[in-house]
Amino acid sequence: MWLLPRSTPISAAEFRQLRAGARLLERDYRGEKVLLTPDNHIIKLFYPRRRFTSARIYPYAHRFCNNARQLREKGIITVHCEQLRYDRTNRRHLITYPLLPGTTLRSTLNEVNNREDYLEKLASYLATLHAKGILFRSVHLGNILVLENGDYGLIDVADMTIQPGPLGLRKRARNFRHLLHDREDREQLDSYGYGRFLEHYEAAAGISDSRRTRLRSYLKRYVPASTF
Ligand SMILES: Nc1ncnc2c1ncn2[C@@H]1O[C@H](COP(=O)(O)OP(=O)(O)OP(=O)(O)O)[C@@H](O)[C@H]1O
Ligand SMILES: [Mg+2]
Repeated sequence: MWLLPRSTPISAAEFRQLRAGARLLERDYRGEKVLLTPDNHIIKLFYPRRRFTSARIYPYAHRFCNNARQLREKGIITVHCEQLRYDRTNRRHLITYPLLPGTTLRSTLNEVNNREDYLEKLASYLATLHAKGILFRSVHLGNILVLENGDYGLIDVADMTIQPGPLGLRKRARNFRHLLHDREDREQLDSYGYGRFLEHYEAAAGISDSRRTRLRSYLKRYVPASTF
């Protein structure tokens, strides 16, 4: 816990100044969530969740910045938190980071005509994350950014655990469930072929024949029928 970044308070006047001229990228029923400032910084707002939650002790904004730092240390491209602030009046945290120039994988797939290359690359990217001990629970195609040079990067990194060694098979299978959470993403992977995607993943992850059988039985348990 001593590694936690500290948040500093932000006043209403400072917040107005910070967001001057910003464009709203995302909102939900609680209010604004993601803003883009004229100097290409993202402001991401975090609202308190349920009354009794670990987020009260370890807020999501702090998790986000901590995870981002650990990901970078492991060689995964992600954002770099600049400010971590607490808005007392509205009881919400905010972070700021420079925009990573890129497009989400979800939008990219709707624009390109070589979708298969991107999905094959996704399979090996997932294997890389798992080899590095990263269990990214929000791993859907809207949280993976395709950068200008074609590399993949991660955004929305608050919800993950990072362990020192590679993920075990059970955790890998659970992560496939997270990956298939959104209908649009499932449709993309379905048309590519789940079996084919899994084969690419297993090859990239270097999974032996005996472990492959176990991985597949976990997948049967964790992901909806009719996929793997
Ligand atoms: N660093 C970034 N670079 C480029 N675009 C970004 C970046 N961060 C966010 N965006 C854009 O803003 C959108 C929303 O950002 P983000 O995924 O962080 O929030 P969210 O999905 O609304 O939040 P949550 O998943 O917590 O509900 C992304 O889909 C992407 O289009
Ligand atoms: Mg997101």
